[in-house]
Amino acid sequence: MEFTDTLLQWYDRNKRTLPWRGAGDAYAVLVSEIMLQQTRAAAVIPYYGRFMAALPTVEALAECPEERLLKLWEGLGYYSRARNLKKCAQAVVAEHGGRFPQTVEELKKLPGVGPYTAGAIASIAFRRPEPAVDGNVLRVMARLMEDGETVTEQKVRDRWAAYLKSRMGDRPGDLNQAFMDLGSLICLPKSPLCESCPLAGFCGAFAHGTQADYPNRGEKKAKRQEDLTVFVVRSGDSFLVRRRPETGLLSGLYELPNQSGHLDQERIGQALTKLGVRPLGAWEIVQRQHIFTHVIWHMQVVRLNAERIEAPGWVWYTGSEPIPEAFLKCLR
Ligand code: ADE
Repeated sequence: MEFTDTLLQWYDRNKRTLPWRGAGDAYAVLVSEIMLQQTRAAAVIPYYGRFMAALPTVEALAECPEERLLKLWEGLGYYSRARNLKKCAQAVVAEHGGRFPQTVEELKKLPGVGPYTAGAIASIAFRRPEPAVDGNVLRVMARLMEDGETVTEQKVRDRWAAYLKSRMGDRPGDLNQAFMDLGSLICLPKSPLCESCPLAGFCGAFAHGTQADYPNRGEKKAKRQEDLTVFVVRSGDSFLVRRRPETGLLSGLYELPNQSGHLDQERIGQALTKLGVRPLGAWEIVQRQHIFTHVIWHMQVVRLNAERIEAPGWVWYTGSEPIPEAFLKCLR
């Protein structure tokens, strides 16, 4: 028996129950796969439910105002995913009459849809024999075959895609999702549960005890470190925010007042005066950290109550402004 048959048998007994499974239409697959790209399934579940309730069709997404879209995405991170998702929906409506194309070649022409997402939609929604090579597939295959090539390289992904393409069989969507579940439940990045693995008998790394050597992720680049002072200026339930510029990190989302560096007490006072804020009582200072793709923010957070005045350029939060996780942390 091929390892893919064994994997499918395991999947039939052990697959996770996830809200996007079973729906099976291309729009649902697209939304779930984009959300799942940088985020664990458990974290995606509530977002997916809210998103599909608010925007149940590709047409609804195509017409959704940006700020509402970003609010639905608030806390998920990597906000360009949301913008690309909308561009993709607009292209499906404008160029395909609201019906997703079915081939990987056509799907890949849609904004934000790369080989992985195209393969996932084609296989899960349209039962086409296409692989969807993500980190799970790369980890499982590298261990099975004790393949030490650097998995961050496109040519390695392409090679596994070509290898799997001829082995997709008649349940390609399930096979792709079986890799995902095996990677999430058993073939874990650290401390894989090889005693429970259906593929142990096929696995070179298990046979030789070399699981920790695979996959080879290559060299990691060090992230830039930035010190920041962030102000939580509260009045009752609200606090001061403003929309960030249209380009750069967290573009279009809302921010709390902040400036570069960790300010001392005197300069904190000066910064508040400049904002036009009069503190009511003492401020407290807490530390928060947020890790982005390329940078780490070390935030000194100054929290205070203030009179509800007009601060030029700033607005009082009403509940509908999308606030990125880095700043949400400062509020908690
Ligand atoms: N991770 C990425 N895509 C997934 C899917 N369809 N099911 C479960 N986990 C996933």
